[in-house]
Amino acid sequence: MTTTPRIALGALLDRSREVITSLQEPNGAYPASPSFSAYRGYCWFRDGAFIADGVSSAGEADSATAFFDWCAMVIAKHSTRIDDIVSAAAAGTPLPDEQMLPARFTFDGGLGADDWWDFQLDGYGTWLWAAAEHAERHGIDVAPWRDAAALTVDYLLSSWDRPCFDWWEEHSEGVHGSTLGCVAAGLAAAARAGLVDGERAERARHGAEQVVARLLNDATSDGHLVKWVGSVEVDGSLSALIAPLGVIGATSAIAEATRRRVSEHLESGGGVHRFRADTFYGGGRWPLLSCFLGLAYAAAGDVTEARRLLDWAASTADDEGMLPEQVDGDLSAPEYQQEWLDRWGPVATPLLWSHAMLLRLAAELGVEQAEVSA
Ligand code: BGC
Repeated sequence: MTTTPRIALGALLDRSREVITSLQEPNGAYPASPSFSAYRGYCWFRDGAFIADGVSSAGEADSATAFFDWCAMVIAKHSTRIDDIVSAAAAGTPLPDEQMLPARFTFDGGLGADDWWDFQLDGYGTWLWAAAEHAERHGIDVAPWRDAAALTVDYLLSSWDRPCFDWWEEHSEGVHGSTLGCVAAGLAAAARAGLVDGERAERARHGAEQVVARLLNDATSDGHLVKWVGSVEVDGSLSALIAPLGVIGATSAIAEATRRRVSEHLESGGGVHRFRADTFYGGGRWPLLSCFLGLAYAAAGDVTEARRLLDWAASTADDEGMLPEQVDGDLSAPEYQQEWLDRWGPVATPLLWSHAMLLRLAAELGVEQAEVSA
């Protein structure tokens, strides 16, 4: 993989906005990847929240607002289930993983008929965080999202310390650093932005502090954040806790050590692997993770490093300006690549989350379309 772009950065940023807004459903749902066999027809809370944050930062406010409307619709649709989960947890008889909220929904807010690695908590924190950021960025009234935010806060407070699948839909036995970070960011942001108020806001604030304490006490090793409680490894998703989520101060010693470790252990030529033992499609490098690492560097003032990572992510676009989920070359486990190609077909392209992260990092660096295409 060279870093010679097939398409100029300015044109790619325009294309990214267009890919996301044109593929968004009329009710606000974002398909993760429109034609990829295993993702077709579903919208993830995690992907969607970061996609909305990306387009919000790029000026597509209406698209992001529509996504949060969709989240609110979905949460309302499953409110009875949330009430049951919260009551069972309060009674000391938590419901089994299969009855917890899923990672993804069909566009109409249904559960879908396909099996999935569904119990993942992070997206419920991430949508609250992204909605708060969006409202603050564009001066948007959060009133339409308050009922859903209250249900989501109650859900997270009832269940945040449970093991669940991670960002990569693996290791359901673990309590994951990135999941804790997303939950903490969401609880804190919901209270800060008035998505919840009164006594619930107090509980959200206190809950966020508890989650951060758990993260810092139990999900670190050798001064850096780790993949899950008990691990010594990093995961590419941990960069997000530094920025954009801001759970860890960007110039703190732990942020510095986490960036260094991710760069040393997972980055190669600007591309970032998910984790060392990754075998999915042979374990390639993910442009969206380069952008998260770039955001973490930018937040600490290292714009040179951030720009290097942005340029690598941009270089992964194909001739049509489509960004993939991951690229091959420099695979961690090449012997597994064919198995995934046979199972699910070529790597998901376009992946809307990749496009969104490019927009988000470009906005952070002040890389405007006019500047780069001039
Ligand atoms: C990734 C998830 C992502 C999903 C949809 C999976 O392969 O591991 O993080 O949410 O694809 O993009």
